[in-house]
Amino acid sequence: MPNKTNINTNTLPNHVAIIMDGNGRWAKQQSKIRVFGHKVGVTAVRDTVEGAAEIGLKYLTLYAFSSENWARPKSEINALMELLVNTITKETETLMNNNIRLTAIGNLDDLPKKCLNNLNVAIEKTSQNNKMTLVLALSYSSKKEIVQAIQQIAEKVKDGNLNIDDINEESVRNHLYTHNIPDPELLIRTSGELRISNFLMWQIAYSELYFTKILWPDFRRENLYEALIDFQSRERRFGKTSEQIEKENA
Ligand code: FPP
Repeated sequence: MPNKTNINTNTLPNHVAIIMDGNGRWAKQQSKIRVFGHKVGVTAVRDTVEGAAEIGLKYLTLYAFSSENWARPKSEINALMELLVNTITKETETLMNNNIRLTAIGNLDDLPKKCLNNLNVAIEKTSQNNKMTLVLALSYSSKKEIVQAIQQIAEKVKDGNLNIDDINEESVRNHLYTHNIPDPELLIRTSGELRISNFLMWQIAYSELYFTKILWPDFRRENLYEALIDFQSRERRFGKTSEQIEKENA
């Protein structure tokens, strides 16, 4: 198992995003219903969040529910929403104890009222915490996020408040849900699936991708540390040559 002492805390990514996947398959392996996998997944969430704050990450984003997940069976959606409401409320104390601020991205108006209310209470309660920001992606779709950014920009152009020539990467970024969150340097996906699933497509343009076969309910902070060690072994060139990067780092 990787040891936290193998991690160089001076070169940590600022922001790690995780696609938590494999709850259903984990439950199936135990001959249990899918919701059981989601419930055990909360243990993985707690350990990963605590581990991320402990090592010194500044932002951790968890993909908890996609816009596409609304197409799942009603019973699973209801159970997941119930779990989210209960977990957010129950874990607010853990967030306070660890000095973690909670925030959320996505089309939050889609959420059931009770879920949204509890979420807003936890966001408000933790708003002054400053060790790490935990971002929950809820009813999130990267394509929808980009479409609503285009609509807002088009509206400004129509109203004469923005010049077409002034539309650039920065102005697009300023209209995304993540306008006040740095882009993730590292994206992790569990369960062995090799896809992005409509997650942070603008923001991960230059992220390092890390895929692990571990199913989400089995994921623990040691697995996060393993991903961080792997991240730190990579050369990030941003389109430049290896020689240029070596010179810059000399
Ligand atoms: C993906 O597994 C997981 C989800 C869609 C839900 C994630 C939710 C939790 C871990 C519960 C609570 C979370 C928070 C942040 C409080 P899957 O159902 O797609 O699994 P499968 O691919 O094996 O079917």
